[in-house]
Amino acid sequence: MKILLVGGGSREHAIAYAFSRSIYEPRIFAISPLRNPGINEICKKSGGELIKGDILDPNFVANTAEKLSVDLVFVGPEEPLFHGIPDLLEEKEIPCIGLNSKASEIEKSKAFMRRLMWKYKIPGRLRFKAFKSIEEALAYIAEYAESVAIKPARQVGGKGVKVIADIQAYLRKVKEEVKKKHAEIIYNKFMRSYDDIEDKILIEEKVEGPEYTIQCFTDGDTVKPLPPVQDNKHAFEMDMGPETGGMGSIAGRGGLLPFLTREEINESAKIIEQVVRALRRETGTPFGGVISGQMMLTTLWGPTIIEFYARLGDPEAVNVLPILKTDIIDICEAIISRKLHTIKIEVEDEATVVKAIAPRGYPNRKNLAKGHIIEVNEEEIRKLGAMVFYGSVDLVNGKLITGGSRAVEIFAAGESITKAGEIAERAVKYVRAIDGWRLFHRSDIGSEVVLKRMIETANLVRSVYSYRKSKGLFGKHIDWIPGYGKIEYEF
Ligand code: GLY
Repeated sequence: MKILLVGGGSREHAIAYAFSRSIYEPRIFAISPLRNPGINEICKKSGGELIKGDILDPNFVANTAEKLSVDLVFVGPEEPLFHGIPDLLEEKEIPCIGLNSKASEIEKSKAFMRRLMWKYKIPGRLRFKAFKSIEEALAYIAEYAESVAIKPARQVGGKGVKVIADIQAYLRKVKEEVKKKHAEIIYNKFMRSYDDIEDKILIEEKVEGPEYTIQCFTDGDTVKPLPPVQDNKHAFEMDMGPETGGMGSIAGRGGLLPFLTREEINESAKIIEQVVRALRRETGTPFGGVISGQMMLTTLWGPTIIEFYARLGDPEAVNVLPILKTDIIDICEAIISRKLHTIKIEVEDEATVVKAIAPRGYPNRKNLAKGHIIEVNEEEIRKLGAMVFYGSVDLVNGKLITGGSRAVEIFAAGESITKAGEIAERAVKYVRAIDGWRLFHRSDIGSEVVLKRMIETANLVRSVYSYRKSKGLFGKHIDWIPGYGKIEYEF
């Protein structure tokens, strides 16, 4: 059996690792923009090969798949999905794990996702406005003083989101200026290079609470969730610094996270199921691959959708794939044959922690973070019981050169999140830049203090949403107008 993997980051290294553990012993091939050393090694050992190439070019990917006569293509990142790689493979009758271009709109267009949730009245939806021009967005900001999240309307690698509280009347003008400035940055910096989407800016209501990701396999009918994972987006300790693709993530034993109840996890999966059903109805096409809810526990709904991914998360995939007990090829075959309901997805009962290590300069000045030679002592890391998943690293003449993004992710498992966190933390020192360039990571991920803070925040949020639910105010907004009284509206 031959597998072709599309993509070259830590998530794809974890996918390749899952394939390498299959009892079917597939030959693994990969197309990747960089020679990821981990994927390269797995491909070679399996009798396959890593081919450097353009993962956004459907013809290149489809021709490579044909030439190699692969049995299955697995697409890791989102952009190849948006570029229609699964669509062309389907035309050529090459089985593919990856949502087609219509279904992957759920990630590509945040306005499409919000409209879909409102049209089908799916719980966990937020109020929003989408704007096609900067003028419309600025006019809206000038008229309405609200606490909002301003986002690029397209998926642009998780960048460009700004959350602005606007409560104090005396600060209204200042807040308006901040919002306008950010809308302009989104329009001019983040959205300028995309001509594949009409909506440019999304303004949605601000919500707060602990975030988590529910990654699911889907065949377009059935949705099978993996254990929930909590990713940490901020670059620096205690959620400070700019937002990144994710600096590390945790997952608890028994398919749980310490700050979520079993009921909240089930509710989250039900929301994703409803979205898949709606997506199927709207697109009218069958699809199969991965869909992940990036969620938040809010006072408005409890489980609430912040975004969707049409793929596994990175680093979230690295928490679950190394402990996947079900054979990934059985899962893929069940997706392709639309029999996912027949499969039980199981993972080892272990807590896991992933810590990303990035060169200084990431995420805002990637040119500085690029081009450094790093050294990874895999043997010492293995002795500690941890594993290395390579990210943005190019293997050139035996040297590991940073590509400017997260370079390495360290995975560790243990009987508790804190135990796994300690192992991962000890392993970090075995990754270093030989030119002395600073590499950074977050030592607080998986620590007791951060877990305690998340549990406390979730308890507060839970007490409010449970109260609202008991009063029939779930998902409703209430305004109090002096002299008039309470106005309830669903929006
Ligand atoms: N961890 C965030 C993402 O995969 O986009």
